[in-house]
Amino acid sequence: MRKATVAAPANIALIKYWGAKHFDPVVPYAPSLSMTLRACRTRTTVQFDSGGTGDDEILRAQDDGTLVPTEESFRAPVVRHLDRLRAWADRSGTFRVATRNTFPSRAGLASSASGFAALTLAATRALGTSVDPTQASDLARRSGSGSAARSVFGGFVVWPRTDDVCAAQIAPAEHWDLRDLIAVVDTNPKEVSSREGHRRAPTSPFFDTRLDHLDARREAVQEALLDRDFDRLAPLVEREATELHCIAMSSRPPIHYWRPATLAVLEAVRGLRADGVAACATMDAGPNVHVLCPPDAAPSVADRLEALSDVEMLLRDGVGPGPTNDVSPLF
Ligand code: PMV
Repeated sequence: MRKATVAAPANIALIKYWGAKHFDPVVPYAPSLSMTLRACRTRTTVQFDSGGTGDDEILRAQDDGTLVPTEESFRAPVVRHLDRLRAWADRSGTFRVATRNTFPSRAGLASSASGFAALTLAATRALGTSVDPTQASDLARRSGSGSAARSVFGGFVVWPRTDDVCAAQIAPAEHWDLRDLIAVVDTNPKEVSSREGHRRAPTSPFFDTRLDHLDARREAVQEALLDRDFDRLAPLVEREATELHCIAMSSRPPIHYWRPATLAVLEAVRGLRADGVAACATMDAGPNVHVLCPPDAAPSVADRLEALSDVEMLLRDGVGPGPTNDVSPLF
């Protein structure tokens, strides 16, 4: 019996993959580039019993630390991923898994990225195998969550769109202390999953146009990041986020992730900029808004966002170093 615990962070895509050709492993139509977060993370403990028979046990840790069974919609994709990892390691036996997030799950805050990255890293260790980050990234994208492939790295991460190339770090967290203030306007699970969004994306009449210019935008974002040039980065990041939602809204059937509160936050960000505060907004597949800024702007951004009645919760995050094993087990 072997046990391992890993905490893996969520990430926020500055260039978003939206549209997948396959899901096992995920092969995106588009390149993506993300910033790995520090505070929003999933801690997962995995125990592997090579003599075990029967079902895997998938548990969620509650705030008081007690472990409760997870509902089928959560459990099923986890067990499917464990099956893949068992087959990959050529082992038989059963897993016991417990997991806990520091942030709301399934609300478009990339809990599948942190969750499947943590599960992949902890399960491979519990199986007694050792994988380098590139192998871990490749295994993580077999989970069906493409963004999990980026969460095994810290700092700034790029995933080109070629079928067989996996994600890689382009700069460590120390490169640029960017902050991310996450305005949570809705903590309910989203109505349409990212996977369904990836399926529908090519039905948008604007999808091919997006793909035509995305490599150039990805390069421009990467250069602005490497130059630590916030003024160049900000408009590119906002354009990219708006475009993802235009694709979602114009796909068939359409997907509307934004809420009126999303627009209220976007307006506040424009107001901050008009007042000379460096800030820009991005959203993944959900209504919540990530407001990026340099460290000196963070207090003004936080004050402005917290003053909005539409903001249920403000998560103070920023670029982080990636997964760690240096955490206590959940059982
Ligand atoms: O992590 P997935 O494969 O469920 O999809 C992620 C989709 C976006 O967050 C909208 C974009 C991205 O690149 O992270």
